[in-house]
This record gives sequence, C-alpha cells and structure tokens, in this order.
Amino acid sequence: MSSSLFLYQIILTLVCQALCDDPIKDFNCFNDYEAEMTCSFSSESLRNCSGYNMNVTQKLAYEINRYSCVFERSHHNAICECKIEVEGFITEEIFSTTLLKGTKVLLQRDFKTIDYIKPKTPVLFVKKTENGNFHVTWVDSYEQRNVFTDNLFITLTYRIKGEIETNSTKVANTVGFCDIVGSLLQPKTEYILTAKMSSNYNGQKIYSDQSAAVHFTTGL
Ligand SMILES: *[C@@H]1O[C@H](CO)[C@@H](O)[C@H](O)[C@H]1NC(C)=O
Ligand SMILES: *[C@@H]1O[C@H](CO)[C@@H](O)[C@H](O)[C@H]1NC(C)=O
Ligand SMILES: *[C@@H]1O[C@H](CO)[C@@H](O)[C@H](O)[C@H]1NC(C)=O
Repeated sequence: MSSSLFLYQIILTLVCQALCDDPIKDFNCFNDYEAEMTCSFSSESLRNCSGYNMNVTQKLAYEINRYSCVFERSHHNAICECKIEVEGFITEEIFSTTLLKGTKVLLQRDFKTIDYIKPKTPVLFVKKTENGNFHVTWVDSYEQRNVFTDNLFITLTYRIKGEIETNSTKVANTVGFCDIVGSLLQPKTEYILTAKMSSNYNGQKIYSDQSAAVHFTTGL
C-alpha cells in the first residue's frame, strides 16, 4: 500500500475524531445550594440522551462522596439533563465531573460550588385587592434559611398579554410580597407576570429559571 494513502487515512481518522464525535455543547452543572446539582448539555443534534452518564466526586476535608447519574431529555428544552441529590453544599468545595458515553470519557470538568449556585425557580401567586391593586406573593421553595436565602431577590416582570414591552421590579425575598399599583396599569387589560430569583450571596450572577406565568386582569 502506498504510504501517502496510509497517511491520508490517518488524517481522515483524526479529522473524524474531532468532527464526527459526540457533539457535546454547553456542558454545565448548577447547584441550588440546598440539596440538588443539575448538569446538562445541549442535545439538539441527538435523537435522545440514552447512553450518556456522569460520575461526580465531591471532595470534603475528611471524606470523598461519589455520585453518578444518567442523562435524560429535558421536558422543557432541547437539553440532556441529569440530577444528583447532595446532602449539603459548602461554598469552597469542588465537584469533579466526568461525562461519559457508556464507559468512554468525553470530558472532565471541575465546578466550585460558589461559582455555580443557581437559585430554585419561584412559584408566584397574585390576588386582586379591594382598591384595585395586585398583591403578589411567592414561594422560594427553600426549606432551610441561611445567609444565601436571606440574600435572595426576586425580579418580577409583567407585560400586557400579546405585547413585548415589559416592566420589572426587584424586591428582597425577605419582604415576601409586592403590590403592583392598579392605577398605573392600563384599564380592562390582561397582564402576564413572571419572576426569577438571584442572590447577593454570589453577586446575583446566575438567575433561576423563569417561573410559570400568572395572569391578572385590571378593572375599569
Ligand atoms: C434512544 O436511542 C437508542 C439508539 O439510538 C434506542 O435504542 C432507544 O430505544 C432510544 N430510546 C428512546 C426512549 O427513544
Ligand atoms: C464511573 O463510576 C462507576 C461506578 O461507580 C465506575 O464503575 C466507573 O469506573 C467510573 N468511570 C470513570 C471513568 O470514572
Ligand atoms: C411601565 O411603567 C411605566 C411607568 O410606570 C408605564 O408608563 C408603562 O405603561 C408601563 N408598561 C407596562 C407594559 O406596564
């Protein structure tokens, strides 16, 4: 066999290893700073997420905890997602992750807890008051109170149904409610309200996923 053909085959193999291999994009792991770490990657070019799994080690001062999870297609987005339950988080600890397809290592990455805190998604409630205002309350879904939850903020965003322009207001989580003044809104109009959480504890760098929308309608 000619040596140039042999060389050509080697190059083709190398190029294919780079391009034909698993197209893992946007691999990331976020923790909720209470009990769960969620890892995901983009799966637009995958039929399903089967075969992808992950090993995780959490190195603490006196012990090492090992976790593993299997990726599944998220119901909401074109992502493959896997979750691990953790007993608790410490700001400075490192989670070492190994992303695998079967037993083949695709990539390894370390995540320091403080840099990847993503608050849980809030749940909104809205009630019309006697004077035509809208009393908004929410549940942050955290069971324990600590310096992280004490520094949570909620950003409420509302817009007229069918329109793009929005108004936002940011309230400390500890306040627990926000009144949207009805007289500043358009009369007889349906509004849509959503919210996201962030915390001063990590510089409000990472926002939660957006809450489910709630609707309210103004009077005359
Ligand atoms: C995912 O894909 C694999 C092969 O590509 C197939 O065997 C399996 O049945 C699929 N799983 C689902 C839930 O579609
Ligand atoms: C992943 O974890 C499993 C189960 O603990 C283990 O058998 C396997 O060797 C690990 N793989 C890698 C690449 O660390
Ligand atoms: C946003 O607030 C401003 C000032 O209060 C108001 O003029 C505007 O109509 C509001 N927009 C929406 C979509 O509510």
